[in-house]
Amino acid sequence: MSTDHSAKVQRDAEGRLRHLITLDGLSRDEIVALLDLAQFYARTPGELAARDQTLAGHTVANLFFEPSTRTRVSFELAAQRLGADVVNLDMQSSSRVKGETVLDTIYTLQAMQADILVMRDAEPGLPAYVAKYVAPHVCILNAGEAHLSHPTQGLLDALTVRQTKGDFAKLKILIAGDLSHSRVARSAWHAFTTLGVAELRIAAPEDLMPGKDEFKGATRFTDIDKAISGVDVVMTLRIQRERMSGASIPDEATYHHTFGITADRLAKANKDAIVMHPGPMNRDVEIASAVADGPQSVIQRQVTNGVAVRMAVLATIARNVQARRHFQ
Ligand code: CP
Repeated sequence: MSTDHSAKVQRDAEGRLRHLITLDGLSRDEIVALLDLAQFYARTPGELAARDQTLAGHTVANLFFEPSTRTRVSFELAAQRLGADVVNLDMQSSSRVKGETVLDTIYTLQAMQADILVMRDAEPGLPAYVAKYVAPHVCILNAGEAHLSHPTQGLLDALTVRQTKGDFAKLKILIAGDLSHSRVARSAWHAFTTLGVAELRIAAPEDLMPGKDEFKGATRFTDIDKAISGVDVVMTLRIQRERMSGASIPDEATYHHTFGITADRLAKANKDAIVMHPGPMNRDVEIASAVADGPQSVIQRQVTNGVAVRMAVLATIARNVQARRHFQ
């Protein structure tokens, strides 16, 4: 299944975002507008959640064909906080198990008037493929596609960097770890480069480093100690053993020793550097527990921002649906 048309297929005839499948092709202004709206919805832990009725009358269906905690729950909360009806399809007990195709599953939900479908799947190209077949009023939001794309994660990571470190044009950002299998890293790369980051570094062991046709403009490192030196943001990634076939990576203790973000390594970054991880974490593998729970960690803020970003995406997509109806 080709992903070549993802960027085009996500827009309507007037060029507005109809689906969100990739951050590829979004302009700086579009990303900034989404972040500004997310900032409007953002609340710190302990504050009452933002609520309005922007999605009243809409039905959001969560279809997660791969496991998720953060993305699925935050899409559900985001939709509820905007007044939508929400259904979560439990894929293990759905008719997919009896052999129903993805499209038939989608058509079934569409027939029940679900109009915003949030999808996660291990198959590359599936969200763009489905987007071509749904009814004109139905929107597809990509909640994680193979190793390729996780657009709302890229946005929440950008929001977290902007809130804590400010202007991207002054920042050195490192994305480190299992880059090869990471949709998080690919979407973060789109977001950070579009927002004009001063310097983007990527670091991975040789076997987990993507080809040169990807992460264009980033400086590549296989030595984490060199990569982390003097950066403002350290984003580390989960090792995704479930996606590996043939990559030779060391055992967990060796990986932690040679590539993990430890307190000693973090001391080589700028002293006010932040540490990010998309979750779920392999504690004391790619990141030391002391760092994950330490004063420079913004990992819980990333989770909090996930709800705000998904509210912003849902509200923007719904507004665009209304605009299309208005002119039909
Ligand atoms: N970051 C992320 O996608 O986490 P989940 O797999 O828990 O949704």
